[in-house]
Amino acid sequence: FPDSNPEANPIDIFRCYIAEVLAKVSGVDSVLIYPALEWTNQFEKGDLILAVPRLKVKGKVPSELAKEWAEKFPPNDYIKPPVATGVFLQFFFSESLLPKLIIPQILRNPRSYGPSPTGNGKRVIVEFSSPNIAKPFHAGHLRSTIIGGFLANLYEACGWEVIRMNYLGDWGKQFGVLAVGFARHGSERELEEDAIHHLFDVYVKVNQDIAAEKDATATKDEAGNVLKDGTSTTDDEARAFFVRLEGGDKDAYALWARFRDLSIVKYKETYARLNIKYDVYSGESQVSKESMEKAAKILEEKGLSQKDEGAVIIDLTPHNKKLGKAIIQKKDGTSLYLTRDIGAAMERWEKYKFDKMIYVVACQQDLHLQQLFTILKLMGFEWADRCAHINFGMVLGMSTRAGTVKFLDDILREVKDKMHEVMKTNPDKYKLVENPEEVAEVVGRTGVMIQDMSGKRINGYPFDMDRMTSFEGDTGPYLQYAHSRLCSITRKAGIQEEKLLTADHVKHLAGSTHAVNLIRALAQFPDVILNTMKTQEPTTIVTYLFKMTHLLSSSYDVLRVVGEEEGVASARLALYESARMVLRNGMELLGLTPVERM
Ligand code: ARG
Repeated sequence: FPDSNPEANPIDIFRCYIAEVLAKVSGVDSVLIYPALEWTNQFEKGDLILAVPRLKVKGKVPSELAKEWAEKFPPNDYIKPPVATGVFLQFFFSESLLPKLIIPQILRNPRSYGPSPTGNGKRVIVEFSSPNIAKPFHAGHLRSTIIGGFLANLYEACGWEVIRMNYLGDWGKQFGVLAVGFARHGSERELEEDAIHHLFDVYVKVNQDIAAEKDATATKDEAGNVLKDGTSTTDDEARAFFVRLEGGDKDAYALWARFRDLSIVKYKETYARLNIKYDVYSGESQVSKESMEKAAKILEEKGLSQKDEGAVIIDLTPHNKKLGKAIIQKKDGTSLYLTRDIGAAMERWEKYKFDKMIYVVACQQDLHLQQLFTILKLMGFEWADRCAHINFGMVLGMSTRAGTVKFLDDILREVKDKMHEVMKTNPDKYKLVENPEEVAEVVGRTGVMIQDMSGKRINGYPFDMDRMTSFEGDTGPYLQYAHSRLCSITRKAGIQEEKLLTADHVKHLAGSTHAVNLIRALAQFPDVILNTMKTQEPTTIVTYLFKMTHLLSSSYDVLRVVGEEEGVASARLALYESARMVLRNGMELLGLTPVERM
């Protein structure tokens, strides 16, 4: 200690040190102390904090232990005397050690600063976005795309082998509706041009036809109230088409495949705008009959499923009252969403032998996924416990029905235009931006994504275009601004890169509270990521990055670079460059593209 391992997570070096010293002081094994030393997100609480009750020392009151250990902790160069508050022990790192430990580590290896390879090559499937072909891409898919993209990056950065999977809603009667609709309202040219929008138009039109036919044939009373629902020949045709499709009819299949392939081409373009690339486009259609039959057989043999008025159901209430009864086969013998999910999970296990599988799906489907996981477990699959549902709340003010926002690329286009307008309100700056359209696109997209990832996943939020494109408050544009400002400091300073590493960081930074607090924040980054692996919440990183931008903005006037003597300027620039790299790493994990000028 302290320079023994320059590659290690710097806070970990302190953690090991504290654990070892405290072990001697307390008699508790250092192996127990080490994981109990947690990072804090408030500087007043220390750089690391220990909740004494976690160590479960028998026969003594934790608050007294805290006091006793604080007094006995020997004076040293690395940690200030610990502070006992109640049952907690707070540890503050020595100011002179921090610059020496943190800054060179970041500057030497900026790309790898942050995540630690805890995944050890374990394999995770992250299934996310999963829109339904022909049906609108709604807010739920938007959130799944953003959160899932982030989680995939996070796992990858932490040394997992990640399989990014899109499980398209590409099967079901809606394809019959589409096929009939396409024959009537479709256009080859428009399909080739933009399958997603065109198929959606067709879908809307043909559904109107169906509704009109049903209305015309309904039995009504004199006041016009429907007594008996009407029928629709279009609907019957659609059903018939789907029966042919499921039966393997070549023509039906060819049409369906075109709809699917052309939609995927469009989806890929849009995902690329969000820096997302899938390893697998799977979908409900890809689940084989064999695996669903195999599932049905296991369920029957284990006495889990039963016939119910011609359908096949699983009564889950004996296992968990809330889960109710789940249907796995309709009267007409066809499969359901749930059936396909059971088959899909089994196939994924066979193919990938994953260590973990994450479904990033809105909380409206909590019940569905609980049913799925419970069924897999009852079927006796030990890997059922490896499945996890990452859920999230609703976006308010973005409804398909009200037509507020429909498709992901519409959202991105609208926010880009809006961002462009906002940029133009500052003509002096706007003039200097070389490629305003591109910047507007990137910053606008950042606005959407930051708004989505700012709160806890489960909380919904209003889709507020004005707020997400504003520079005021903790918004995407503000985050981009913070990054571009750091870039501009480096550009203006004109200091050679080598000078940053050789500068005397301790001499010029340790005496400044602003500098020290900034370094303390930088030192936390690896722990923030470890903690994010626990919370699986993008907000853990977002909150941290904004904390850093606040520390930065209050430092600029105090820690100037331009006009200072070279030693001071280089040390300060080393600090800003370290901050820029952490900010960039954090932003990239979130799936953002940091801009250099705006
Ligand atoms: N396509 C579904 C929807 O839009 C989401 C799929 C979620 N994933 C799953 N394995 N069920 O509602």
